[in-house]
Amino acid sequence: MPEVRPLSAEGAVDVTSLYIDLLGGEAEGDRPHVALNMVVSADGRATLAGTADIGSRTDRALLRHLRSLADAVLIGAGTLRANDFTPRVSSREAMDRRELAARPPQPLGIVVSRLGDVPLDRKFFALPQERLVAVSERAGEAARERVRKAGATVVAFGASEVDLPALLRWLLRERDVRVVLCEGGPHLVGQLLRARLIDEVFLTQAWRVTAEPGALSWVESEAALDVRLEPRESYEGDGERYGRFRVTYSR
Ligand SMILES: NC(=O)c1ccc[n+]([C@@H]2O[C@H](COP(=O)([O-])OP(=O)(O)OC[C@H]3O[C@@H](n4cnc5c(N)ncnc54)[C@H](OP(=O)(O)O)[C@@H]3O)[C@@H](O)[C@H]2O)c1
Repeated sequence: MPEVRPLSAEGAVDVTSLYIDLLGGEAEGDRPHVALNMVVSADGRATLAGTADIGSRTDRALLRHLRSLADAVLIGAGTLRANDFTPRVSSREAMDRRELAARPPQPLGIVVSRLGDVPLDRKFFALPQERLVAVSERAGEAARERVRKAGATVVAFGASEVDLPALLRWLLRERDVRVVLCEGGPHLVGQLLRARLIDEVFLTQAWRVTAEPGALSWVESEAALDVRLEPRESYEGDGERYGRFRVTYSR
């Protein structure tokens, strides 16, 4: 087990000094490396009153930092419906670091949805960098046109669900995306894990119990999974533990 080190927004370990190896990281064969970031309560809930509002200031700083290291940030449409989603790097230091690593100034923002029926009034659609909405072939032309008019690029993979491996291969091939940060939510995470597409997990465990009836776990899947998380780094502070885990899949 790795040593647990103290962490806070202004603490002994500077959040922005962590996990720098992700920036400019290598692809996994024909698809990008996929890292997942989630925050959960001590009783395993990933939603609270329909939001993801579980973590502290330090957790949010860590999320912003992870975004600044990724080539693309990916979410499911359920997360966009519940929250605003603005994967924008704003600190000068982070932008300089991206430039030094020869990465684009901003990560590509991606939302997946079967039919492309996504809320177009979200700040996501006003971001200056490229935004992508990945849909299935079932998405009608009218929905695709609405998304395009809102300023996003529309791509389609798969008959009724987005074919996630095909999307990832396309991202590497067509947009040189080598590192994807997935920010959930739980149903997209379940699909990615079932397809063995998550390589590592950044998990914040908040030391609070919410016990909200009907709240989602951080993984929601229609089929049972056997996925192991191997701890690599661990920090503690602000009433939370922050872990970095390598993912292994049973045969
Ligand atoms: N604790 C955390 O760290 C965290 C992180 C993120 C979100 N959340 C919370 O989680 C809740 C939302 O949960 P959720 O499970 O509904 O979110 P989600 O996984 O982001 O969204 C599910 C939706 O994503 C789309 N989707 C997923 N896989 C797809 C595929 N292979 N092909 C096409 N579309 C696909 C579908 O959209 P369509 O219905 O449009 O087809 C599906 O209904 C919110 O309360 C949010 O705040 C928590």
